Amino acid sequence: EKVLFVASECAPFIKTGGLGDVVGSLPQSLKEHENIDVRVILPFYDEMSEEWKRKVEYLTTLNVKLGWRNQEATIYWLKYNHIIYYFIANDYYFTRKGIYGYYDDGERFVFFSHAVIESLKVLDFQPDILHGHDWQAGIAVALAKILQPTPNLKTVLTIHNIKYQGIMPLDMFDDFFLLPREHVSGMEWNSMLNCLKAGIFHADKVTTVSPSYAEEIQYPYYSEGLHPILKQKAQSLQGIINGIDTKVYNPLTDPFIPVNYRSARSKKKDNKVYLQEELGLPIDREKPLYILISRLVEQKGIHLLMHIFDEFIQSDVQFIVLGTGEAQFENFFKYVNDQYPDKVRSLITFSESYARKMYAAADFFLMPSKFEPCGLSQLIALQYKTVPIVRETGGLRDTIQPYNEITGEGNGFSFSNYNAHDFLHVLRYSLDIYYRPEHFQQLLKNVNKSQFSWKDSAKEYAHLYKTLLPTTITI
Ligand code: GLC
Repeated sequence: EKVLFVASECAPFIKTGGLGDVVGSLPQSLKEHENIDVRVILPFYDEMSEEWKRKVEYLTTLNVKLGWRNQEATIYWLKYNHIIYYFIANDYYFTRKGIYGYYDDGERFVFFSHAVIESLKVLDFQPDILHGHDWQAGIAVALAKILQPTPNLKTVLTIHNIKYQGIMPLDMFDDFFLLPREHVSGMEWNSMLNCLKAGIFHADKVTTVSPSYAEEIQYPYYSEGLHPILKQKAQSLQGIINGIDTKVYNPLTDPFIPVNYRSARSKKKDNKVYLQEELGLPIDREKPLYILISRLVEQKGIHLLMHIFDEFIQSDVQFIVLGTGEAQFENFFKYVNDQYPDKVRSLITFSESYARKMYAAADFFLMPSKFEPCGLSQLIALQYKTVPIVRETGGLRDTIQPYNEITGEGNGFSFSNYNAHDFLHVLRYSLDIYYRPEHFQQLLKNVNKSQFSWKDSAKEYAHLYKTLLPTTITI
């Protein structure tokens, strides 16, 4: 079958987070393991590197009607790793710095959605399924259903994060669409125009990036207000866990890390020593090293760590953080860096190379998220034989099982309530286990066996697509 991914980011062209990683690696895997022809359509951002901008080829130019506006959409394409990518260019909407954060983001992605639907009439590719990702593709899913640009087009919408919905005043409906008013109700939520809700309402299937998150968002604590519509669609809602690209995240071949390894503790400790040296921390290969690599935003549970940091750091440990985000969190980590110079390093930046060196060097990886649709970093940590310590929510709950001393099962540590002292308690417990070699070795054995490559998830998506297509009877 033929599937068109519609998304606002995609590695390696343009990415701000996990969405870009997933849209970057899932099509490859669907092609390789399931033989599905997946193509991806994205905005053509000025922000992309010159290298990619030079490589694309011109395909065609369309006139796109966005309500009363006539806008041009120029379509470029390129082939990369056997996948075809289409890019929609428009000087007014996408020639800006960065990719999000503008007052008219809603209008920008409604335009993108209109252009995607128009492009279906001219591409030499007729998808059976339009698969949109997050709110930026919500209107494309809705229009695919309402306008049926090609016969029998089916739709899937994947929610990577329900917190972002693309909300605008409702009177934008007439401003953006030349559609009969009966279509307002499908796009409306709490008297606002809501792109994510529009996609959920119209999609044949809605997926999230983990089974637990699919459950959680049917309840108010996690739903960001959308639980009623999700409960209504529960029959067509499904969670499929993300994978990671195990060719990229492989400690045996990773070019960023000083000492490559498969699972050897001694080599991992060599990496620890290199990193301690580089960052000017006391050199000690046995010292337990805890790390946090994250966007520094509320979602990631940074408040919990702040609350108990002084108590935690009294233990004989080292801690390194890497990331950027809200000022309150950046400032906090700068402060503790100065407060505990022998124990703490705060790298307030984004650096792929530091990230890899930290995964390779550390003993424990912290991820106490308030909510987590899937989470990719805990999966990367597992690949680098670093033990995740997580809160039991969303994809963290589905990928990390707490270590159990009695049965010897579990590939990490976890706590359930969003409570700082519960977190402190498991941090202390992890240290306790670290110093009980028979248990720590058992735990590392379990970590070694944990695998989250894309292969199994690709199979689930393939199955989902099949259920949408007309059944052919073979005799
Ligand atoms: C979002 C979510 C994250 C998920 C990623 C990819 O960034 O916050 O949990 O792993 O999307 O699906």
